[in-house]
Amino acid sequence: MTVTAFGPGRVNLIGEHTDYNGGLALPFAIAEGVRVTASAHDADTIVAIAHDAGGERDTFAAAAPPREGADGWRAFVRGIVAELQRDGHTLRPARLEIAGDLAQGSGLSSSAALEVALALALLAHAGETDPDPVALARLCARVENDWVGAQTGLLDQTASLMGRADAALRIDFTTMETTVVPLELGDWRLVTLDSGETHSLATGGYNERRAETTEAVQRLGVATLSAATPAQAAGLPEPLARRTRHVLAENQRVDATVAALRDGDLRRVGQLLDASHASLRDLYDASTDAVERTVERLRAAGAAGARMVGGGFGGHVLALLPPGTEPPEGAHEVSPSAGARLVG
Ligand code: GLA
Repeated sequence: MTVTAFGPGRVNLIGEHTDYNGGLALPFAIAEGVRVTASAHDADTIVAIAHDAGGERDTFAAAAPPREGADGWRAFVRGIVAELQRDGHTLRPARLEIAGDLAQGSGLSSSAALEVALALALLAHAGETDPDPVALARLCARVENDWVGAQTGLLDQTASLMGRADAALRIDFTTMETTVVPLELGDWRLVTLDSGETHSLATGGYNERRAETTEAVQRLGVATLSAATPAQAAGLPEPLARRTRHVLAENQRVDATVAALRDGDLRRVGQLLDASHASLRDLYDASTDAVERTVERLRAAGAAGARMVGGGFGGHVLALLPPGTEPPEGAHEVSPSAGARLVG
């Protein structure tokens, strides 16, 4: 039996660096993503072919994917195979063909798209077609954490797995409760523009921010940073106080955005995107010169709001454009699309 699964990338409308802090976010799945086809294979091995990496191959024992040599895209494949089995799923030997249309390190979550598509294809190939999305999101995040070395939260995987057409998903990362929030844009457009700077979540500022927020949680003795009060935040040493202030205000901006969408007030959504960006730049120190220049280009084009998306430190910038404005050259329109699924 041959099956094909599609895992979409995602854009986070608002709620950045809140997922690993037990906070709120409002992402949506996009039309672009990664496609994995799994077909029968006779040996007790998995063979994976990465068409976007020049047809590179990886072949390994299905029962025990080795850590040695698990670099780059191979870490995702071996990690998903290993973690699915660790969670009690029975897999069948398979030949995996991987292809996608998402740039790596772009902030559109090419990693989660790959993890999710791999997991759905491997499970369907073994006869399991309706896995629990929250359990699967956790499993995929474990691959990021333990195989790839990026201490990411659950934002990307949850958005990729549970996204809906024409809607964003409000996610509460303390309870993992999700609410579908219609994203009706009318003649407005959401676009992303590449800052030209790629980022790696496994190196650089992302893991450093995670370590800082973990330290803040330990100092305050709270369950997550989202449970801290503003007064507690003010008592922390810098930069921990600023990091905490960002998380608390960003959670409020998520619900303010949900309310603005409900009221059809897209100007207000734009203001909230701008406020989120300012907070990520000034309180979370997650911006770069290239990102700032990209934000400026979008504002100069008439954006009602613009902000960095994803882990920051490079990647893409998201902007909300009112009717009649032309996006700058190189910008790419994104629309809320269906979540991960079997496509054949
Ligand atoms: C990356 C991570 C997510 C999340 C965002 C920041 O995309 O993979 O888990 O932390 O950064 O909001």
